[in-house]
Amino acid sequence: MRFSLALLTALMISGCGPDLPMGSPDPEPDLTETGPRLITIDMDALDTARAVLAARVPGAQLDIVESSNGIAVLSYDAQDFRALSERMHDEHNRCGGFVEHADLDEARVALRSKQQEQLAPLVPYTIDNAATVQALLPALDANNILTSIQQLAGGAGFATRYYTSFGGAQSTTWIRNLWQNFAAGRPEVTVELFETGWAQKSVIATIPGTTLANEVVVIGGHLDSIVSGTSSTVAPGADDDASGIATISEVFRVLMAMNYHPLRTVKFMAYSAEEVGLRGSKQIVTQHKNAGINVVGVVQFDMTNYQGSNKDIWLMQDFTNAAQNTFVGNLIDTYVGATWGTDSCGYGCSDHASWHNAGYPASMPFEARMSEYNPNIHSTGDVLSVSNNTATHAFKFAKLGVAFIAELAKGTIGTSVNTAPTLAITAPADGTSVPQGTELTLTGAANDAEDGALSGSIQWSSSLDGALGTGASRAVTLSVGTHTIQAVVTDAGGLTATASISITVTGTVTELFRESFEGTTSWAPTGLWHSVNNSACASPGFASATHAMYFGIDAKCNYSNGTAVTGTITSPVITGTVATSSLKFQYFRQVESSTGTWDVASVEIVSGTTTTTVWSKTSANPSVLAWTDSGAISLAAFAGKSIQIRFRFNSKDSSSNAFKGWLIDDVVVTR
Ligand code: BES
Ligand code: ZN
Repeated sequence: MRFSLALLTALMISGCGPDLPMGSPDPEPDLTETGPRLITIDMDALDTARAVLAARVPGAQLDIVESSNGIAVLSYDAQDFRALSERMHDEHNRCGGFVEHADLDEARVALRSKQQEQLAPLVPYTIDNAATVQALLPALDANNILTSIQQLAGGAGFATRYYTSFGGAQSTTWIRNLWQNFAAGRPEVTVELFETGWAQKSVIATIPGTTLANEVVVIGGHLDSIVSGTSSTVAPGADDDASGIATISEVFRVLMAMNYHPLRTVKFMAYSAEEVGLRGSKQIVTQHKNAGINVVGVVQFDMTNYQGSNKDIWLMQDFTNAAQNTFVGNLIDTYVGATWGTDSCGYGCSDHASWHNAGYPASMPFEARMSEYNPNIHSTGDVLSVSNNTATHAFKFAKLGVAFIAELAKGTIGTSVNTAPTLAITAPADGTSVPQGTELTLTGAANDAEDGALSGSIQWSSSLDGALGTGASRAVTLSVGTHTIQAVVTDAGGLTATASISITVTGTVTELFRESFEGTTSWAPTGLWHSVNNSACASPGFASATHAMYFGIDAKCNYSNGTAVTGTITSPVITGTVATSSLKFQYFRQVESSTGTWDVASVEIVSGTTTTTVWSKTSANPSVLAWTDSGAISLAAFAGKSIQIRFRFNSKDSSSNAFKGWLIDDVVVTR
């Protein structure tokens, strides 16, 4: 802890707090100095600084060394500091109100930090997600915070969390395990160690955002503890900062338990090595900066469980973002029901400063006024009994943590969000060709953000052979032909992913039935159907030499006889169909052209007492004056059944029948 001259000056002014903080290096500032010094001051107070100077040297010019974004670096005489501090308090209600700097470089660093405080919001600070916040808040339990503090401060078996110690390493594992348990039902949530280079690692839990995943909200505290001037074999750090880690852990527990799904990505961070110069957080911030990660808001909980002041929560104004701090104040008013005030550390007092210095908006809600914080920190006396073995104060910060996340990362609770699974066929390769009889192993990989691995429930099918079973892999022997192999997987929320490959099995297709209408047949023609030998009504008069069946009148080459005409030809009984069986035939067809349903040419499968139309064309389908292949018509629905094939023509009416009609040849059924 360090204290600036300006702050110490301020402390001597009534209303700026009577107590000197612990660890204060030199309690009495020397206000008798004279001579030019560099200070930074808000530009709205320039008139105040001018007035103080003019009171001592009438007509003197204020020496503004440089200025930007509402902040000025002044060369100001040290003998005016006391008067300036008093006037700043009276006129601007600021304690101190200016900061002294050793040289211009230091003043510029402060200037940049001050500018960063005024950074415009990266996202709108709206408070419009009350349904989610109000659903989450009742799930918070102060007892869990209490237990976590007690465990971290010695109960779990490590007496220190000093960053290079074995206890420090144990604390890493402890918090990682706690968070992993919270996230157990959420496969998309990760809990990872961040390598530090020393015994204690930092720990990061990530809840991926649903729709704004590349915008990140960070909530953190520091995992390490210290006793000043030692390498700390006993350093309970119950308030500093087991309280902050316990606070954010309870927030994380509730988000997981309530199945919260943020729109923006949320990261929980337990930083290592804060006490030795914010080292753990600096590493993480550097990594985020280098990776170009868009961190839109950061909140730091460092010391949350000691009620030292007459207001509950204190928003540190320095090394933080002013707009975000206003938002945090509004969140407290809206959701926490606690009182709050503002104060300043006077230096980069915790990990929020690492983020702030790198240009990210940060806030630091703190347990007390700077002058009234827990006096036991950094000693072996930083134990839970100082807070009466309760977590009542930290509980307010947990509420704030929930509100901060649910209003900055937005999102909802429950299962309303579901993303589709991913699916890939990993073997065999697309386009594989194998000889008939080869056994192939179909293998797939399916994953789902919400459900995790789904490979075991991949459903396989073939365009020729039908269903092929379920599983991550299936051994199959496919029938001859080119198959489209499809893999389908459906997640718990009903979303589906599909993948497909083509596999060709070479060999001879087994024909169950072939009819080329050459000899005598038992097709029992009715209506105008009859056998033709090289019909003059089609060219050629057959599909395969020399006969075909014709619905029409040979002499006229049409089916116009003044009445509605209809008739069928029906095959003999065919047996032996399997799931891969198909029918195809050749046809020549000319009928009237009309959008109505006239001149219907259809193919039916008769099986027992059921008749099913499997192919149909009407006046709405254009005629083609050439022999045409029907293409494969699946008979999968009739696998194992005895069937008959029936071709039916029905003119439906007596007019517009002067067209050639329908010729059929080469009817084939395959296995
Ligand atoms: N929790 C303290 C910071 C703190 C103490 C803030 C009192 C407000 C009031 C933190 O763990 C700490 O000790 N930080 C160091 C920072 C330094 C290593 C950059 C400190 O204040 O000395
Ligand atoms: Zn701390």
